[in-house]
Amino acid sequence: MALVAGELASVERRLEEVLRSREPRISEIANHLIAAGGKRVRPTVTLLAFRACGGETIADAVDVAVALELIHSASLLHDDIIDGNDMRRGRASARRKYGIPHTLVTGDFVFSRAFQICGRFDAKQINWAAEACIALTEGEVMQSRYRNNPEVTLDDYMEIIYRKTASLFEQGARIAASLARPNPPELVDALASCARHVGLTFQIVDDVLDITAEQAELGKPIGLDVREGNPSLPIVLAAAQDPEVARLFAKEDLTEGEVSAVLGRIRRSNVVDEGRRIAIEHSRLAHEALAPLPESEYCDSLHALIEELINRVC
Ligand code: FPP
Ligand code: MG
Repeated sequence: MALVAGELASVERRLEEVLRSREPRISEIANHLIAAGGKRVRPTVTLLAFRACGGETIADAVDVAVALELIHSASLLHDDIIDGNDMRRGRASARRKYGIPHTLVTGDFVFSRAFQICGRFDAKQINWAAEACIALTEGEVMQSRYRNNPEVTLDDYMEIIYRKTASLFEQGARIAASLARPNPPELVDALASCARHVGLTFQIVDDVLDITAEQAELGKPIGLDVREGNPSLPIVLAAAQDPEVARLFAKEDLTEGEVSAVLGRIRRSNVVDEGRRIAIEHSRLAHEALAPLPESEYCDSLHALIEELINRVC
C-alpha cells in the first residue's frame, strides 16, 4: 500500500471533488458512505496493476481507481436498500440514515459520476467498465435467485461471486493495465486474471469472516448471511452436507435461536476449513497469474496484498 500511498491520496481528493453536487443532500449521502472509509482494495489493485505494467501517467490510473470505487459505492448504496441493511462500515447505512428515495438517487448520481470519468477512455476500455457493471447487476439478481434455496451448488456460488465481486476487480485491472500499454500486450490479460482471483479470494474471505469474525472486526453484525438467507460459501457447503442447515437455510425470517443453531452447526463442521482451502487456492492462482510480469516492487506489492487477504482468515 505504501508504494502507491501518494496515488491513493490523489484518489481520495478526486473522490471528494466528484462527489460535489448542486444538491448538498446528495454530497452528504455519498460522503456518508465513501468518507466512512472502506478498505480501498479496488483502487489499490488498480494502481498496482498500472504500475506493475510500467505505467507512468498516474492521472490515468487515478481516474480508473476513482471510477471503480464510485461504481462499487453506487452498488453498495443500492445493495443496502435491497437487503434492508441498517449498518455499513461500522455506522448506520445511508438507507437507514437518509431513507430509501434519496439513497437510491444518490446511488444513481455516484454511478453517473463514474461514467463521466470513464468517458475519457477508449471505447474498448469503456466497454470493459460497462461489462463489470452489467455483471454486478446480474450477480445481485442471481444471488437473490438462490436466496433461501438449498439447491444452490458450489458452481452457482462461484458464478455469483465472479459477477458481484470479481468482475469489477478484473475489469478495473484490465483497464489500468491497458492504459499502461505494456510490452508484451498479453500482460494486460495476466493482470486481469490476477485481479479476478484477488476478487474471488476477497469475497470468499468475506463470507468465511461472516461466520468466524467478531462484530467489531467486520463493521457489521456477524451471521448476516445466515440471517438474510444469502448463499454464502459456508452456507452453500454446509447445506449440501447437513440436512438441518439445508432446512433452516430454506426458511425465511429465522429466530435468534435458529440463527445460532445454524452458526453453531457450521462452526462445528469442516466447511470453514474447506472455505479457507478454496480461498487459498484462488490466492495461489492470483500469485501464479503474475508470473509473466517483469520483477518490480509493484509486482511484489501485489503478491503482498494477496497474502494479506488470506491472512485475514488463516
Ligand atoms: C454487496 O455484496 C453487493 C455487491 C457486491 C453488488 C451489488 C450490486 C447491485 C446492487 C447492482 C447495482 C449495480 C450498479 C452498477 C450500481 P453483499 O451483499 O454480499 O455484501 P454486504 O454484506 O457487504 O452487503
Ligand atoms: Mg448486502
